[in-house]
Amino acid sequence: MKSYNVAVIGGDGTGPEVVREAIKVLDAAAPKFGFKLNYTYFDFGGDRYLRTKEVLPDSAVSDLRQFPIVLLGAIGHPDVKPGILEKGILLRLRFELEQYINLRPVKLYDDRFCPIKNKKPADIDFTVVRENNEGLYVGAGGNVFKNTPHEVATQESINTRRGVERCLRYSFEYARQKHVSQPWRGLKPDDLTAGKRSQLTLCGKTNVLTFAWDLWFRAFHEIAKEYPDVKTDYAHVDATTMWFVKNPEWFDVIATDNIFGDIITDLGAMIQGGMGIAAGGNINPAGTSMFEPIGGSAPKYTGKNVINPLAAICAGAMMLDFVGESKAASAIEQTVIKVVREKLKNLAAGKMGYGTKEVGDLIAAGL
Ligand code: IPM
Ligand code: MN
Repeated sequence: MKSYNVAVIGGDGTGPEVVREAIKVLDAAAPKFGFKLNYTYFDFGGDRYLRTKEVLPDSAVSDLRQFPIVLLGAIGHPDVKPGILEKGILLRLRFELEQYINLRPVKLYDDRFCPIKNKKPADIDFTVVRENNEGLYVGAGGNVFKNTPHEVATQESINTRRGVERCLRYSFEYARQKHVSQPWRGLKPDDLTAGKRSQLTLCGKTNVLTFAWDLWFRAFHEIAKEYPDVKTDYAHVDATTMWFVKNPEWFDVIATDNIFGDIITDLGAMIQGGMGIAAGGNINPAGTSMFEPIGGSAPKYTGKNVINPLAAICAGAMMLDFVGESKAASAIEQTVIKVVREKLKNLAAGKMGYGTKEVGDLIAAGL
């Protein structure tokens, strides 16, 4: 029997509660699909930091490297200054484990939960491939003359050919794989005649950020030649946010940089029904990948059994898909869809009509 070692970081706030439900579901799926999961728990997060004054122990990264997959709850603590845990834990792990892709599917499971009128699940079904190791997130910059009228602050976006290229190659490959069985529904007859099966939209800002996005744009069109089956498309990031609301059905796969990906996926989460349902994966295709609900630690809901665990459950499904247990992953997703459609009143914390644990039970029992 196949078995997988999983590192589990519950983290802060509601992180541990939602991860508990994800594990409940994973453990219900494992025997049904013939694999085993072995969990090792790590206590990284705000409470540990406040207790020990250490954000991450020195051994953290090398310990996590021993695992192919990590399930993460949330990072962010109300008693810790913003930035310390986010940079010291989440971003450090994404960077040091070279999780250069942040994969964020945006899928509407039930039109009742879409804030946009007349949009159906078929209209909102795309994936954002966010570059996860470069851009504004590298922390390049600094201040001089701090706290004086002359204060200068810089924050530079770093884009390397290698970093951009590996993100784009992943995106093209992902777009191709997404439609091996059936071409994307948004293609026109002409596209199909030309042999296209998927669409990859580059989301950037070539009209203003003319250094970084020139690199992205050139690399995009060079690599595209190797993927004649993938239709290429370009959208500025501001227009992308407009189209997420106006015509989300125009998107199949979107590749973008770290900061734009951060911003557009919060909007993506809203049109798919909210933070309660949005999952993502920090992917190192050759190393340790880390899966997480993208919503954050939600301190005010902590310990109340009201937070929606579906994002964490979906992150667990993405994790299974990533290791090759795609039947189990899709069974979890189908069960989530069924429960969302047939049982839940709302996807927001405290309004689901069920508690956190009960939602976990429904998914585990429905598999
Ligand atoms: C996310 C979060 C993080 C990010 C923060 C918490 C550092 O917003 O995962 O999108 O900006 O990447
Ligand atoms: Mn974000």
